Amino acid sequence: MKIHLPTAILACLPFSTAWGSLGHTTVAYIASNFVSPPTTLLFQSILYNDTEHYLANIATWADSFRYTAAGRFSGPLHFIDANDEPPLYCGIKMERDCATEGCIIGAVANYTRQLLDPSTPTGMRNMAAKFIVHFLGDIHEPLHTEALLRGGNSIPVLFATHLTNLHHVWDTSIPETHIGGYGLAFAQAWATNLTDFIQNGIYKSQAENEWLKGMSLEDPESSALIWAGESNAYVCSTVLPEGREGVENMELSGEYFEAAVPVVETLVARAGYRLEKWLDLIAVRAARTEL
Ligand SMILES: *[C@@H]1O[C@H](CO)[C@@H](O)[C@H](O)[C@H]1NC(C)=O
Ligand SMILES: *[C@@H]1O[C@H](CO)[C@@H](O)[C@H](O)[C@H]1NC(C)=O
Ligand SMILES: *[C@@H]1O[C@H](CO)[C@@H](O)[C@H](O)[C@H]1NC(C)=O
Ligand SMILES: [Zn+2]
Repeated sequence: MKIHLPTAILACLPFSTAWGSLGHTTVAYIASNFVSPPTTLLFQSILYNDTEHYLANIATWADSFRYTAAGRFSGPLHFIDANDEPPLYCGIKMERDCATEGCIIGAVANYTRQLLDPSTPTGMRNMAAKFIVHFLGDIHEPLHTEALLRGGNSIPVLFATHLTNLHHVWDTSIPETHIGGYGLAFAQAWATNLTDFIQNGIYKSQAENEWLKGMSLEDPESSALIWAGESNAYVCSTVLPEGREGVENMELSGEYFEAAVPVVETLVARAGYRLEKWLDLIAVRAARTEL
């Protein structure tokens, strides 16, 4: 059923900007399930938290920081706006799509280099770690790699009869409806399942053979571009398979939701697994340079 919405309502739509807390904290817990013991110790120390929640605890910090005066510069770093043409063709081009104020590709590289540099001051190292944990989540959200209507923020849709926007549906409504909540306990339970899928289940061979391809600390831009390109491909296949017309003002909690859930699960699992490897690589290097 297509419902027409008055423009006054459209103007008031919330402008949401990241995987909601459930997505980010689940990615963080998956990573903490896999990292090696020295990696755990290093990041517990950098993040001043020696509990098992050391990554989940800061996974959404960057989404608050961007709305502070000191953090305003970091707003554009949460995404890259591919000026592609879904569903006809998807694809990211760094020169075309990375804004002059920066984008998530450059940010992953920047904060990775800060973590690797032994001369980075403690406070900056703490901030760099918080950004890395967050941005490796965001880069796996398809609508963080798409320009169309501000990453879907300006596409009004309905979810379980509530008026919202397409970006929010992917960040928050789909994961939370699938899992049934959003607190740390829900994230940890979801992470346990996805960790099992990676170790023993449906993701085992993909994780081993494909998910880490092209990953290199020497070339973090290229690594991040691979991850963003894979997320962006889902914009054509799953987010907007019939273009804007296929979702605008439509109810998305039925068939659309059902088709999206396996993609969201795969992306969250991939993000967590890649974050784990990235942190392990950083920790191995840190051990050599006595960081
Ligand atoms: C560590 O993270 C947990 C979970 O968010 C939190 O409850 C705890 O206060 C944190 N510890 C410190 C020292 O910040
Ligand atoms: C790198 O990070 C620093 C510290 O947050 C920031 O001031 C700078 O603008 C960043 N540079 C790029 C190119 O993103
Ligand atoms: C985890 O998997 C079990 C068994 O398949 C399922 O019953 C449960 O709902 C799942 N929980 C989450 C949070 O994914
Ligand atoms: Zn974000």
